[in-house]
Amino acid sequence: MGSKARAAITAVGHYLPETRLTNQDLSEMVDTNDAWIRSRTGIEERRILTGAGKGTSYMAARAGQEIMKKRGISADEIDTIIVATVTPDMAFPATACLVQAELGAQNAWGFDLSAACSGFLFALNTGAGLIESGRAGKVLVIGSDKMSSITDYTDRTTCVLFGDAAAGVLLEADHDGLGLMDSVLNVDGRGWEALCMLGGGSRYPATHDTVDKKMHYIYQDGRAVFKVAVKGMADVAAEIMERNQLTGEDVRYLVPHQANQRIIDAVARRMGLSMDRVMLNISRYGNTTAATIPLCLCDWEHQLNKGDKIVIAAFGGGFTWGATYLRWSYNPGSKKESHGG
Ligand code: UT7
Repeated sequence: MGSKARAAITAVGHYLPETRLTNQDLSEMVDTNDAWIRSRTGIEERRILTGAGKGTSYMAARAGQEIMKKRGISADEIDTIIVATVTPDMAFPATACLVQAELGAQNAWGFDLSAACSGFLFALNTGAGLIESGRAGKVLVIGSDKMSSITDYTDRTTCVLFGDAAAGVLLEADHDGLGLMDSVLNVDGRGWEALCMLGGGSRYPATHDTVDKKMHYIYQDGRAVFKVAVKGMADVAAEIMERNQLTGEDVRYLVPHQANQRIIDAVARRMGLSMDRVMLNISRYGNTTAATIPLCLCDWEHQLNKGDKIVIAAFGGGFTWGATYLRWSYNPGSKKESHGG
């Protein structure tokens, strides 16, 4: 096989908080109901991280620990930690630094990557570049978001959508033609106002006024985002299939960002995929922003086989969107041989 180094996912891991927030719970908090939420979004419940002083790094570090344990490696073998998040523990230092300390990854450098719901996809491609160039041997890519920390639980149009979680992957070099094959990545900043959090940054630092105006919560023009999300995700998925000569028959699984089941259905239709080949877990976790895609990979890990052709697709605030075509690199239950640090 070819000798070009590709970045392959060699382990996955996740962390889900135990507290569940059901549609029934929400219907006691705002004017909504289970039937509306299920039919418009596909969501039944989400997880919420509780406990004072626990932020995104708490979940990300636990996902990282599971990844290392499953791969059978120690923290000092990690070269780079990339945390995709829009809910960092603090403006600075980067959440990746807090994760590095908690893991004891003494040889790693790292950084946060902000691309909202496309965060994991963008971080995966950034990490892949480090592997392909030989700059890193083992890269932890973790999507982690404590969306409950920026959700207004009096706003029914957003509070039913989001949940908290972390999940991620380990990237390593593969020389057998497996791993990340191709990607299409996009941003269009002209759409920023449709999905954003205005307050708390350098443009509108926190003041009594910004708090009164609820500027520290997610704002979303749902209808507008829905339209561009369907088109954006379906277009990139079609583009990645076309330029890699993939048909619906070839793709073992679509791994879509989980924002709305109706968006996912539309993307699958455009790709010619039946729903048994679409990873779908939005009903249990809601939209966990940067965590949805690796959470799917964790839930489906045991159904994935070496060589499987997988398409990942995401759309999010920014706007940011894209798709990656990859070939899975290990069989269920098998442990790849670790090459050490
Ligand atoms: O992850 C990053 C990208 N984000 C997305 O992809 C999200 C994209 N947007 C969506 O998924 C959908 O637009 C939503 C799920 C957010 C909303 O669904 P929709 O079918 O677009 O509903 P809508 O905003 O058009 O609202 C329809 C009606 C409105 O009432 P009127 O104006 O028709 O009387 C809303 O006020 O539903 C009402 N509504 C609700 N009713 C009960 C909005 N939220 C709720 C609610 N419960 N939670």
